Amino acid sequence: MAAPASIKPFESRMDRGMKMKDEEKLYKRDGIIYSTIMSPPENLNAVKDMEAREDDVFLVAYPKCGFNWMVAIVKKIMNASAGVTVPDRPPIIEFYPPQLQQVVGKEPSRRLLGTHLPRNDIPESFKAKKTKMLVVFRNPKDTVVSYYHFMNKNPVLPKTESWDKFFSDFMAGEVAWGSYFDHALAWEKHMDDPNVMIVTYEELKENPPEGIKRVADFFSFPLTEEQVMNIAKETTFSAMLDSSKNSHGQFGNVFFRKGEVGDWKNHFSEIQSKQMDEEFQKKLGGTKLGAKLKYDYYCQ
Ligand code: A3P
Repeated sequence: MAAPASIKPFESRMDRGMKMKDEEKLYKRDGIIYSTIMSPPENLNAVKDMEAREDDVFLVAYPKCGFNWMVAIVKKIMNASAGVTVPDRPPIIEFYPPQLQQVVGKEPSRRLLGTHLPRNDIPESFKAKKTKMLVVFRNPKDTVVSYYHFMNKNPVLPKTESWDKFFSDFMAGEVAWGSYFDHALAWEKHMDDPNVMIVTYEELKENPPEGIKRVADFFSFPLTEEQVMNIAKETTFSAMLDSSKNSHGQFGNVFFRKGEVGDWKNHFSEIQSKQMDEEFQKKLGGTKLGAKLKYDYYCQ
């Protein structure tokens, strides 16, 4: 079967972004902001009925939490362990126009799929089939910084007025794909579901081989020690930045910026830092997900 969508249509959407007015690039649906180009209403309507499979490999992340890094890792795991070649396109289901969703419906197992949608909006079939979901989270201070730069570099999204304005929009959940805290609170209630595993950007960064092993085990893709080490080597930030010309065309530097933990210290004012600390405490203080994010360690 011919690859239905590769990097080319992806680039053409970026090109469309360059011609579109900033004020047209986002729209609101059921209280949540979406990208007009990447996830227009027809995509969101069709995705509701998407049929999941029990053996789908499903990745979930709030924007800028390390989704593309995890996609690269999982593609390599699937290829090394089972010889699966994943189609060359972003695996985000709400980016797929209805026709592409139909094509994906006929593709062989095991499929790699993913989403930035809040948990409530993940198609029902994924929940009914208890498809395994790997959810990637990142500390909110680095997430908002990464998001801010992404807005200014990605032509699909409108440029921000200023860091201060974007920070307050993020705190209010008035950014594309909604509130970080709402996403986190929804997953907090499902952390112990047997088909859910949460991995943080920070733990992956601290010990990549350990993270790769856990991900491979979760999706039942056995790997040798040598395969784990090779995947770790090929998915470092610098290796992925180098190969981003192939993986992301001319937009490589949009997706691979700094790849560090703690860049928030170069952006946050003292007042913003305190505001985020209070919000985190109010929303996620004392929760299991709050503890997993190690906020006190990474955000103080
Ligand atoms: P920064 O903007 O802080 O550099 P997403 O893929 O969810 O959009 O997340 C993007 C963030 O992940 C960016 O963070 C990007 O640089 C970082 N990233 C991408 N590949 C990475 C890698 N191999 N190692 C560490 N961070 C990576």
